Amino acid sequence: MLKFPKSAAVAVLGLTLLSTPSWAEGDAVAGEKVFKKCSACHAVGDGAKHKVGPELNNTFGRIAGTAEGYKYSNPMIAAGEGGLVWDDATLAEYLANPKGMIKGTKMAFAGLKKDDEIANVLAYLKTFSQGEAASAPAAEEPADAAPVEAADSTPAVSTEPAPAMVVEASKGAFGLGRVAMPEEIAAWDIDIRPDGMGLPEGKGTVAEGDPIFAEKCAVCHGDFGEGAGRWPVLAGGQDTLTRERPEKTIGSYWPYLSTVFDYVRRAMPFGDARSLSDDDVYALTAYLLYLNDVVTEEDFELSNENFSSIRLPNEENFIADDRLSEPHYAKGVEPCMSECKPGPVEITARAQILDVTPDGEGDESTGGGID
Ligand code: HEC
Ligand code: HEC
Repeated sequence: MLKFPKSAAVAVLGLTLLSTPSWAEGDAVAGEKVFKKCSACHAVGDGAKHKVGPELNNTFGRIAGTAEGYKYSNPMIAAGEGGLVWDDATLAEYLANPKGMIKGTKMAFAGLKKDDEIANVLAYLKTFSQGEAASAPAAEEPADAAPVEAADSTPAVSTEPAPAMVVEASKGAFGLGRVAMPEEIAAWDIDIRPDGMGLPEGKGTVAEGDPIFAEKCAVCHGDFGEGAGRWPVLAGGQDTLTRERPEKTIGSYWPYLSTVFDYVRRAMPFGDARSLSDDDVYALTAYLLYLNDVVTEEDFELSNENFSSIRLPNEENFIADDRLSEPHYAKGVEPCMSECKPGPVEITARAQILDVTPDGEGDESTGGGID
């Protein structure tokens, strides 16, 4: 039935060698089944949209790499510019071995290994192409061309599993992405636990941290962590937590030194995150301890060895709350879930009376009592 030679097809089909070979008439109905191997990436028919690959309506007679709105690989575009037009011969060659024909094509498909599969899928595609190049006697109403009875009456298409897609180290149906490399995971996995787990090896002293802080941090946080302008304050604020406006800093508020190390290493200097070496971060953390009077010696050295022995002043005010020992819940009162407040709902105060809403336009002085 097939008129082009089996395995020789790829070798022989030079684009220019082909004049008018008489192509086998494939079976469009059988081809629809073959197309299942393509349909993860391609749509064809009414309203077909680009998926991973371009939509395949009117492929026959189309210059390679020219379906509107689809982002082709450069080699595919180059092939089209070099004169590649899709017809039986060129499509057969491409579908048999995409990467063999167009080196660098992003069609990650191993190829159809059977000549009749190629012929059939081309017959099927042809039913969605108009014009001379597609003057095939194939079904006229392609979308409805494959009722179940018809499929039954045609020779069965190979039931072998689809040829493996060349998905290069990726798993999953669409062949997207790849497994992360251990190095990549290590680069992302930088969190540090309060007990010091996750700390990198390294060390740095207060005295070493001082000039780094002056160079890289003081412009925003002030020479002594007092905060330049409205940038965050990093030191001081002790004994302010019970005030109406507490000053929450590393020294006054933060429970764990691991958060300081992690934050600086991950996010600072602002705008140039992850630019510090581990030793720099140890030195800066030591310096921040010094600014907050947690350590007092300039030659104090912080390292992964002594890190977890440092305690921040406010740690003990952070308590584990399992809810059940929290006073309100400890009584074991069943929470009220409906009609908890007897009587109709009424407004008891207005924001303006509470002095959180400015009196009039342009009047900013009275606004903003909420922190
Ligand atoms: C894993 C996804 C995938 C599968 C499976 C796949 N293709 Fe493709 N196909 C693509 C991508 C991506 C392109 C674009 C190639 C490029 O730009 O280099 C493409 C390009 C094409 C082109 C060129 C279209 C044009 O306008 O230039 C044709 C024709 C084609 N595929 C047909 C098929 C057929 C038929 C099958 C099934 C036998 C198939 N493809 C299977 C992803 C796929
Ligand atoms: C360009 C300005 C800028 C520079 C430079 C900068 N920071 Fe920051 N820093 C910020 C801003 C803004 C925040 C608050 C970010 C947020 O809350 O999202 C911050 C937050 C912090 C915090 C957390 C403060 C808190 O209480 O929440 C620490 C610690 C810190 N910076 C340390 C440093 C260190 C150490 C350096 C130098 C290596 C540095 N920063 C350089 C702007 C800066």
